[in-house]
Amino acid sequence: MLVTLKELLEQYKTTDKAVGAFNVTTYCDAQPVITAAEKRNAPVIIQVGGFATRYMDLALWGPLLTTMARRSTVPVCVHLDHSKDVEECQRAIDAGFSSVMYDGSQLPYEENVRLSREVVRRAVEKGVSVEAEIGSVAYSGTNAFKAEASDPDTTARFVADTGIDAVAVAVGTLHRMEKQAAHLDFGLLHAIEEKVDIPLVIHGSSGLCDEDFKQMCASHVTKVNIGTALRMAFDQGLRTALRDHPESNVFTEIAHIPMEYVERKVLEKLALLGF
Ligand code: G3H
Ligand code: ZN
Repeated sequence: MLVTLKELLEQYKTTDKAVGAFNVTTYCDAQPVITAAEKRNAPVIIQVGGFATRYMDLALWGPLLTTMARRSTVPVCVHLDHSKDVEECQRAIDAGFSSVMYDGSQLPYEENVRLSREVVRRAVEKGVSVEAEIGSVAYSGTNAFKAEASDPDTTARFVADTGIDAVAVAVGTLHRMEKQAAHLDFGLLHAIEEKVDIPLVIHGSSGLCDEDFKQMCASHVTKVNIGTALRMAFDQGLRTALRDHPESNVFTEIAHIPMEYVERKVLEKLALLGF
């Protein structure tokens, strides 16, 4: 069933589980996310960002993913990830997404608040949830995005100033890490929890070590974003398929191989998230 981020996360804020938010780029990695979630009877967030929207627009993603969500036996939130454009958020809302992230993390505080609020204003009318970011989770391999740990008081002020449903915080992770070498700053995370009442979101979780997943689930961290690990699994599966089936020139004959690799990776991460 299709659910909003707000209704999904509220249930898990104070449990020892957290909801996986998996970045997908095609039908072939979206379906195995849902299949894995159904096998574990786990709720799931399926999200698209720039890697997905650069080749297929939101007007197509919306009907595809929301149909998959409605057909599913588990709660599925369909989310736009890391949008830096209010009008793109509007297109996602119009396309049926049940949640959007406005990412003003690179902007000055007041501008981040102003644009996040504008997205909230538009989303509320349609019953759509909003995530926004304060501080900044940087990216491996580029300095284009700053690294800035989230300050607890500023995070609390940002939540009050914007009216968002979930807040992404920078507490030790880095986007696009290919190895699980990151550790969370649990001192900072708990300081934020004391001041902030809404669900917390961790970005860049592909790089997070397994030990920190369990500890994180017991906190107010409720949405855990995982992208790179899935793309690597798909890529490995696709290379294996092409190597093992050089005779095939029909992608749909070999597509099940990368799809199985993605499903296994999602099952592994769901176990770490308590499902
Ligand atoms: O917003 C997307 C996530 O933060 C994914 O990060 O690719 O490092 O797992 P990741
Ligand atoms: Zn992210």
